Amino acid sequence: MKPQGIVLMASCLLLWATVAAATDGKALFDRHCSSCHYQGDNPTYPSRPLFRLYREANGLRTQKDLVAKMRRGGQGMPSFAAKQLSDADAMAIAGYIIRTFD
Ligand code: HEC
Repeated sequence: MKPQGIVLMASCLLLWATVAAATDGKALFDRHCSSCHYQGDNPTYPSRPLFRLYREANGLRTQKDLVAKMRRGGQGMPSFAAKQLSDADAMAIAGYIIRTFD
């Protein structure tokens, strides 16, 4: 195969992987979080929505910070143990939040 063909195939794979990861994060968010955080809002605790300005004011900046928040839960937020939500799934959700609720 010509080098161009290989480059093309590699870019397709990369694109596919990116799209797959993006879809997963959304699907997982919809399943586990959107009942309380529909479209990033927080009706139970309106001063703590998932948008960057608010999140970062509460020290949640990176994907890891968000995963830690999922693990610990909070005031009205359930904690998600690793057997309910794997590290990979929690990271996918965190990525989705950072990309989507800017
Ligand atoms: C039963 C309702 C409920 C569910 C389900 C829920 N949360 Fe929450 N969440 C809350 C409440 C209430 C707060 C505000 C109090 C607090 O920070 O603990 C909150 C706060 C947060 C915050 C902090 C926002 C800020 O501005 O400081 C993040 C991030 C968050 N939730 C992410 C998630 C993710 C991700 C999921 C799914 C894995 C999830 N939550 C599921 C109720 C929920």
